[in-house]
Amino acid sequence: MANASSMKIRVEELESGMITAENVIEPGTERILLLRDTILDSVMIFNLKERYNVDEVYIRKNFSAATVADEMRAEIDIHQSLSTLKEVFGSDEDKPLTEFSKEATKQISNVTNELITSLYADDNILLKMHQLQSYDDYTYKHCLRVAMMSVTIGKSLDLPRNKMRDLCEAALLHDIGKRTIDVDIIRKPGRLTDEEFEAIKKHPQNGYLLLRKNGSYSEEILNGVLMHHEKYDGTGYPLKLRGEQITYLARIITVADVYDALTSNRPYRQPWSVAEAEEFMMGGANTHFDYDIIMAFLAAFAPYPVGDRVLLSDGNKAEVISNNTNVLRPVIKILTGENADEVIDLYNDFKYLTLSIKCLDKDGSTGE
Ligand SMILES: [Fe+2]
Repeated sequence: MANASSMKIRVEELESGMITAENVIEPGTERILLLRDTILDSVMIFNLKERYNVDEVYIRKNFSAATVADEMRAEIDIHQSLSTLKEVFGSDEDKPLTEFSKEATKQISNVTNELITSLYADDNILLKMHQLQSYDDYTYKHCLRVAMMSVTIGKSLDLPRNKMRDLCEAALLHDIGKRTIDVDIIRKPGRLTDEEFEAIKKHPQNGYLLLRKNGSYSEEILNGVLMHHEKYDGTGYPLKLRGEQITYLARIITVADVYDALTSNRPYRQPWSVAEAEEFMMGGANTHFDYDIIMAFLAAFAPYPVGDRVLLSDGNKAEVISNNTNVLRPVIKILTGENADEVIDLYNDFKYLTLSIKCLDKDGSTGE
């Protein structure tokens, strides 16, 4: 069955600016080369064709020249932010950082301006985030994505704009302390010894000290960096703070940090699906995470966007019609089986309590 919103085209026909409608998998393997909703550029298209021998790709229909132009602009902006971050963090080849310069402060402030402006201009910040999914440059991309996600959650929590700036800067810099740690430990591919792990666990306080020495950062920002590995129930590190002892901004950054780590493409494992990761995050509400922040996060990052096809626990297929406050239980229209065409509210209709969404329907949405 063809999906109304996507079409399959040959790699030779791909053009920069087209958007993938499905994950692109390397032929003969399970490896994800590009995630769904990636805006293709010429390098990606070249790699799909020449390096990975991909034949066909599902792309989104209905993108007008205007939206492509907007999205291409977004792509340029995001790459600018990324290269600024690279400069600030320095290359992995460098010696550990002992100082955070005033120039770096200015650059972080510029990236913050860019992200906050995009967010309030109702620019599609989530779409931009998807462009940052690939194996290379994990650290900078991780920091940028955590910042984008943090401000998106902040907006959903109605944080005032000045707090949003603090949130964004703290999120961009949350892992800066890793640059103070011996590069050999950070880059070690195998299992870390206990000692090495302890050294890495020092990155929150090292980041805090590095930025405090710089003198331009508020306590809010410094604490966001210091507390981003604390957990709501007191089982985190380095201070084992609990509940509201952990600052509000730090609690937001923690949610974005963990979610991004779970859903990122890493060389040693497949990313978790959005739904799996969100299920995990929901399970951690009130233990690892602040309940209200998890709710704001789930509202901002619905795992089953309207129009997506899903597979149900009874084996039937359905289409998402609208989202509920519990984003794992949206309103759906059944597409197959004896109840085909029926519209069901998985959250409010108790008749369907035992029916759940198993996963996105890969076959349905790939137009089989
Ligand atoms: Fe960290």
